[in-house]
Amino acid sequence: MNSDTAKEKIEALRHELEEYSYQYYVASNPTISDYEFDMKLKELEKLEAEFPQFFDPNSPSQRVGSDINQEFVQVKHQYPMLSLSNSYSEDELSDFDQRIKKLTEESYEYVCELKFDGTSVSLIYEDGSLARAVTRGDGEKGDDVTGNVRTIRSIPLKLKGTDYPGNIEMRGEILLPFAVFTNLNQAREEAGEMPFANPRNAASGTLKMQNASEVAKRKLDAYFYYLLGENLPDDGHFESLQHAKKWGFKISEHTRKCANINEVIDFIRYWDTERFNLPVATDGIVIKVNSRRLQNNLGFTAKSPRWAIAYKFKAEQVSTTLESVSFQVGRTGAVTPVANLTPVLLAGTIVKRASLHNADIIAKLDLHLEDSVYVEKGGEIIPKIVDVNDSLRKPDAQQVEFIKNCPECNTELIRREGEAAHYCPNETGCPPQIKGKIEHFISRRAMDIDGLGQETIELLYQQDLIHNAADLYELKAEQLIPLERMGEKSAERILKSLDESKKVPFERVLFALGIRFVGETVAKKLAQKLINIEQLKAASLEQLIDIDEIGGRIAESVMAYFQDEKNATLVERLKAQGLQFELDQSILNERSQKLEGLSIVISGTFEKHSRDELKAMIEKNGGKSVGSISKKTSYLLGGSNIGPSKLEKVEKLGIPMLSEEEFLKMIE
Ligand code: IVH
Repeated sequence: MNSDTAKEKIEALRHELEEYSYQYYVASNPTISDYEFDMKLKELEKLEAEFPQFFDPNSPSQRVGSDINQEFVQVKHQYPMLSLSNSYSEDELSDFDQRIKKLTEESYEYVCELKFDGTSVSLIYEDGSLARAVTRGDGEKGDDVTGNVRTIRSIPLKLKGTDYPGNIEMRGEILLPFAVFTNLNQAREEAGEMPFANPRNAASGTLKMQNASEVAKRKLDAYFYYLLGENLPDDGHFESLQHAKKWGFKISEHTRKCANINEVIDFIRYWDTERFNLPVATDGIVIKVNSRRLQNNLGFTAKSPRWAIAYKFKAEQVSTTLESVSFQVGRTGAVTPVANLTPVLLAGTIVKRASLHNADIIAKLDLHLEDSVYVEKGGEIIPKIVDVNDSLRKPDAQQVEFIKNCPECNTELIRREGEAAHYCPNETGCPPQIKGKIEHFISRRAMDIDGLGQETIELLYQQDLIHNAADLYELKAEQLIPLERMGEKSAERILKSLDESKKVPFERVLFALGIRFVGETVAKKLAQKLINIEQLKAASLEQLIDIDEIGGRIAESVMAYFQDEKNATLVERLKAQGLQFELDQSILNERSQKLEGLSIVISGTFEKHSRDELKAMIEKNGGKSVGSISKKTSYLLGGSNIGPSKLEKVEKLGIPMLSEEEFLKMIE
């Protein structure tokens, strides 16, 4: 194919793929199967690799994100990102309306929007192409998070149509939908990591992750509500948003124009309860004067616009009785106190239990049994006890005390320094920890054992057939077949699947072990750097911390794991049973030590390889690919369009530059 034809084909595919993404993620109206989409994307990727001169950071192929750690550069906002003043009652809204009436002679309309509870972002489009995405920061300047934002499928990289102004700024809210949030937290808990408290924290945490390819996996979403720039298509804010919708932005379908404050109040009353049926978190309604000309006349106070106000929903609260407190032990041994309540209706669901988090919270509430408590459902999914009505407490009420011993195995609980949670340290003898660890071991993303589930694990444990993962590999058909709801076929399936799991690669086996804080990504990093279990066991704290993304907390946990003799024995047994405890030979064969000891920063765009490919090559050859330039940097591997700040730094520190050609020669 010649270069002109390739260019045409690439552009057509990019356009087509953006349109499919728009239909799927913005319009909720898929027009192509996932398979066909993937095929077209592959075709585009192939052409882009063959014709690197047509590289475009806004190509749909870039939505997977780079996995080079990024530094966030601070950028000044062209228009400061202000906040809104809040109101909490209908009276306050009427006051707001009166203030506006006093400031203008004209008649005016309002626009009511949902107030999305995520993290705000400002997008700059130049000639219809996403040029920059910046977080709110302190309102004056924020972090440039363009690489991460490009991975959000509902955000257009190129605008649709032709009637958009050359320069626009679009502001909106980045969100993690409830369903995604629930899955994410489940995965975090499985990895022994702290779950996020609410979708808002999860969204802002994700947006600031250093690795864009990880952001891509998190499935963020976004809604837009504020268009800025000159030559906007309409004086009306509402009408402008409708134009923006045609350009491909996700604008909430629930935005309404209201003729007066009474209509605004109707809107608020409707959403006060209806919001619980939305897939994303909202914490109020935003009311704006529609005319942008009038908005300009009304202007701003130091902190917020005079032409808009937020109405905040009351977090719904009810009072009920605390019947008892139970303590649950998780896979990692963490003990969570749970309040058992007299069932009560709250925000559309019956609430029977509330999270009490930890001992400090119980003490702070000074909880007693039979207390009348206030339960609230705020941004958090699990309701929580926010207050106690101690005037109703009976004089002989019994204070709630945190247990001293494990409710499952009676071992004395420990509380590590600096941590709020209590733990049962009896990792290999405490039933929920034993079962939890095995359940994690067999889970889909770990060893992926077919036919085994929570119930079967429970049965096998009850029958004294398994106490740890290695026991699974010694199971015999005769032991499985007599179990409840098991038959010859199911038993066969389990044994076959166990046998097949001996091929599961080292990094997943490592994840399956369930070492605290070692989730999928960390397991991968450890496996790739240390190659086999012997080296991992022998690694010093310094060696571990030296690995990308591994800090002291993870390093200590890994060391503690192997220092425990029971774990070491388990690993030995699994190894003898034939599981993979070494990186695949084909990966190892491709490796060299040609770049050993070198630390290389990649910057710019390249002719032959993508940045991810170059990063992989550096690592395969024993080098270290780092995100930011320092005195320790050995080379800057530079393509075209290296950022000016990077160039300046390299010159100042006298760091040698490498071209793509030179680099490829080095590792030849
Ligand atoms: S308008 C100058 N509209 O709420 C006014 N903000 O408290 C700019 N938010 O920082 C904001 N939904 O993060 C506006 N429909 C909406 C919103 C919204 C959520 C957030 C936004 C802003 C904060 C203000």
